Amino acid sequence: MNSLIRKSVQAMSGYVPGEQPKVPDIVKLNTNENPYLPSPDVQDILSMVDIAVLSRYPDPLCMELRKAIAELHGCGVENVFAGNGSDEVLALCVRAFVERDGAVGYFDPSYSLYPVLADIEDVRKKPVELNASFGWQMPENYAASLFFLTNPNAPTSQKFSKANIGEFVKAFSGVVLIDEAYADFADENCMDFALRYENVLVARTLSKSYSLAGIRLGYCVGNAELIGAMYKIKDSYNVNYLTQEIARVAILDQNTMKANVQAIKETRKMTLEKLSELGFEVCDSQTNFLWVKPLGITAKSLFEALRKKNIIVRYFGNDARTKDYLRITVGTAPEMFKFLDAVEELIRDL
Ligand SMILES: Cc1ncc(COP(=O)(O)O)c(C=O)c1O
Repeated sequence: MNSLIRKSVQAMSGYVPGEQPKVPDIVKLNTNENPYLPSPDVQDILSMVDIAVLSRYPDPLCMELRKAIAELHGCGVENVFAGNGSDEVLALCVRAFVERDGAVGYFDPSYSLYPVLADIEDVRKKPVELNASFGWQMPENYAASLFFLTNPNAPTSQKFSKANIGEFVKAFSGVVLIDEAYADFADENCMDFALRYENVLVARTLSKSYSLAGIRLGYCVGNAELIGAMYKIKDSYNVNYLTQEIARVAILDQNTMKANVQAIKETRKMTLEKLSELGFEVCDSQTNFLWVKPLGITAKSLFEALRKKNIIVRYFGNDARTKDYLRITVGTAPEMFKFLDAVEELIRDL
């Protein structure tokens, strides 16, 4: 049987997404979703959908949606690629920009999908270790076809400085995909680099700040030639009709997104302060999650004890650099109070 499967596929481990348990009363803080409702215009557009349109294929080029994205970022439609979640955008980058003997670069720790995407295409991986406090490490004497640069970084929640990123993209000979999945929660972003440097693409998603993880819409912005290459190789109808419509109205309603982001930032600050008071090490977050090293209890024990109380956070126990930390999505204030009460109780009972 194994002879039927490519050797590289046999050898690789697939990506393991965070759990999506369907249990009532769960406090779900494990996959960086947004706890608030998306734009009310999403409800309106769904009520107006004429089901007759569903018998036809959707626009393969997502023109109306791309116009809305182009308007938002002050670029042309030819500078925008729309995909089935930013995960699809990232996968297409490996397929479009990395030769068979090429390599994919990324920081470590960072989004654990990147090495899996390299494995799928059977190309080399060239991780660059972040410094001891998960901060910037300039890749020296470094060559790769594509570098995935997550900013702010996940799972560490911190941002890198624009000066460092700018220096890197100017020196690097391949394509730099700046993955800005969490940029709406940060103080600054690098979207201007996508329009200034011909080797830079900036990816965004509607899964986090827009509360729309369920529709699967991600996009990237950059040089029209790079975008054109991605359009050449994508599936014909990669973004379904409903997603195109929902994403378009959500992007036009910036106010709802910004209000939700503001609420999350306030809850983030409150949670960070409370965890710091408990003596936990908490990184300065620029995202909708916190990267936390507990005090007096191991990350693994805290993760397991919280789980028994129906509170789910994310634990990356397989890696020496991440095994002492937990990644905690910022939920609503009541959810975070439940989480904090549970943590305090667990520590008290030690
Ligand atoms: C850094 C990063 N990039 C991309 C994604 C995937 O986003 P999407 O839901 O658009 O596929 C995630 C999801 O958690 C992420 O953390």
